[in-house]
Amino acid sequence: MRRNTGLIKFFFPAIALYLLMQTVAAQNSAFTRLSPADSLKVETLLSTMTLDEKIGQLTLLASDWNSTGPAMNANYEQLIRTGKAGAVLNFYTVDKVRELQKLAVEESRLKIPLLFGNDVIHGHRTIFPIPLAQAASWDLASIEIAEHIAAAEASAEGINWTYAPMVDIARDPRWGRVSEGAGEDAWLGSLIAKARVRGFQGDGYSDGTHVLACVKHFAAYGAAVAGRDYNVVDISPLSLYEYYLPPYKAAIDAGAGSVMTSFNEINGVPSTMNRWLLTDLLRNEWGFRGFVVTDWTSLNEMVAHGVAADVKSASALALNAGVDMDMQGSAFLNHLGELLKEKQVTQSAIDEAVHHVLRAKAELGLFSDPYLFCNKKREQTEIMTKESQDFARKLVSESCVLLKNANNTLPLSPAVKIIAVIGPLADSKIDMLGSWSSAGKWEQAVSLIEGVRNRFGSQARIIYEKGCNISDSQVSGIEAAVKAARESDFVILALGESRDMSGEAASRTNIDLPGEQYTLAEAIIKAGKPTTVVLFNGRPLAISRLEQIAPAILETWFGGTQAGNGIADILSGDVNPSGKITMSFPRNAGQIPVYYNAKNTGRPFSNDRPDEKYVSRYLDCPNTPLYPFGFGLSYTRFTYSGIKTIVEGDRITITANVTNSGEKDGQEIVQLYIQDKVGTITRPLKELKGFKKLLIKKGETVNVSFSLSRDDLSFYHPDLKKYWEPGEFNAYIGGNSAEVISASFNL
Ligand code: GLC
Repeated sequence: MRRNTGLIKFFFPAIALYLLMQTVAAQNSAFTRLSPADSLKVETLLSTMTLDEKIGQLTLLASDWNSTGPAMNANYEQLIRTGKAGAVLNFYTVDKVRELQKLAVEESRLKIPLLFGNDVIHGHRTIFPIPLAQAASWDLASIEIAEHIAAAEASAEGINWTYAPMVDIARDPRWGRVSEGAGEDAWLGSLIAKARVRGFQGDGYSDGTHVLACVKHFAAYGAAVAGRDYNVVDISPLSLYEYYLPPYKAAIDAGAGSVMTSFNEINGVPSTMNRWLLTDLLRNEWGFRGFVVTDWTSLNEMVAHGVAADVKSASALALNAGVDMDMQGSAFLNHLGELLKEKQVTQSAIDEAVHHVLRAKAELGLFSDPYLFCNKKREQTEIMTKESQDFARKLVSESCVLLKNANNTLPLSPAVKIIAVIGPLADSKIDMLGSWSSAGKWEQAVSLIEGVRNRFGSQARIIYEKGCNISDSQVSGIEAAVKAARESDFVILALGESRDMSGEAASRTNIDLPGEQYTLAEAIIKAGKPTTVVLFNGRPLAISRLEQIAPAILETWFGGTQAGNGIADILSGDVNPSGKITMSFPRNAGQIPVYYNAKNTGRPFSNDRPDEKYVSRYLDCPNTPLYPFGFGLSYTRFTYSGIKTIVEGDRITITANVTNSGEKDGQEIVQLYIQDKVGTITRPLKELKGFKKLLIKKGETVNVSFSLSRDDLSFYHPDLKKYWEPGEFNAYIGGNSAEVISASFNL
């Protein structure tokens, strides 16, 4: 139940409030982050605010700077001046933030500072690879550092709240927002969620160089039917708990200070009015102490969902479910007063929501210094530094995944004298930023051809031809492109999606190469020169046809500001690729959803009986994906041997040898999967339970060891309780989810 703040007005004298706060603090861990002075400030404010001022704190308004949704706000300045807005989004720069903060803290009656939110999804000015690319690095430390740099740059420009991390698990690459997440696995997604929250918030976000995180989109937005954005989510409670909720919980456990509700319904109940989700689960079961904000007008959209006759009744549903702040809908602003009068909401519910918001502002240090995030010197010295560019370049190369490399086409030989860089993405800077790069300046991005010129320009002649566009039917440029290929010693063929073909409102039914890119690719490859495809995309693509014709394919996603340089580091062999995909690539859209942690079914297909009819299979396509979860090649070769399992009490240790049997040192992401062979419910064929990213020198053999407890083997049951079951297990170790060595054990 929402806390009853009605008693507070009877304990008005400040000293009584202070004593009350100390008592509450002892009971409630969230207050431990507040200083006694801030606790007193929050309670004093709450007891003196008018209803309008309280509702103002629950109102988030968008700027006219950068719209990330359908509606805009007109008179936000007047609303701020009169205390009727508690937060704004999509504004930044110290001057602008200071200007608006001044309206709040110098002109409004109670001088309550504003939150300034922004979608700092993969960088602020220094744009890092999209989150799905960063996930492919499996480098939790680097992911955390990237978010800390993002927080440092964003907070240097006045932002104190980011709408990230997005932790939605997804198994359907038709959904464009897979680009913003960590892929298909909840266990890996949970580790990445924690790393990202830590990067944004640090150990407490009141030092002015970190920002409040906002874990989104709560919940299960990535399970939209048919991968169509905003579509229905119809899911069993068991799947919800096992495969979709863990990363949100991980982010909350890591201390995320806010949560954003998702647009979708879950089994008939939209998240933005879902009391089971926002109060029973999030607050009462998980102990969340921050505040809940809607997504962009997701409150108003409950009318379209058909669960509210009008925005007024939707507002009551949202507040009573546990929503604290209304993003851009002005629904609370326009209706909470009447709803209170009509007793459709309670004063204590409003006060509880205001309390959550004021506490976040106190934790950010805004009551001590409303201009904490308006440091001109930081803005001038801490953005786009050489260190952040160097780090971004390193993360680009770590995020690249070598999908194919027949005849060791890559890396380019130093003897190459003429390099043809061809394709619709070869000279694009804006596409390098990917979706959600709001403050990133595309002019500062390094395109592929710029990266190639930087790295190879002193040793080879670089020729460029676009060949075709990304997605139209023009082929007039292909002839010149073929001519350039014939003239060259090596061809780099830049293909893929534009940046706006993934991200929000960017679902695709055909997830193969668009436009005339295959016409170009076939013509270029027919020229017979050593050729690699460099792929730019925000989602797994169903590139079976490309896999058949291209000698080499390097997946580079959208690498951000340093894309071209980081990719050139891989093409040249200066960096040995180590990335591994965290979302399966289907052979075609008809296979979707295809994912590694699938069930066996009662009639499993077996390679031993390829012609068996009455089994779970397709007539026209294998069951396996084009590239499986965890897949990625190297310029060297890793071989696995000697897997052993040792059971000691309730712990199991699994070891194996990994040998670098190639000619180059390289990093390998060694993966551990477990299969629970017999359970009281069906269990996946494999579940990722561990990984280690190791540098293994050429010729070296390393013994890797993983140790698991019974808890690591627990799973959700139909009663939604999570526990372990004794029995026989298989352990698998390998460089991806399909190529493994195995051993069994009993626990
Ligand atoms: C958008 C997105 C959400 C984003 C918000 C603010 O509609 O769904 O991810 O944080 O609006 O831009």
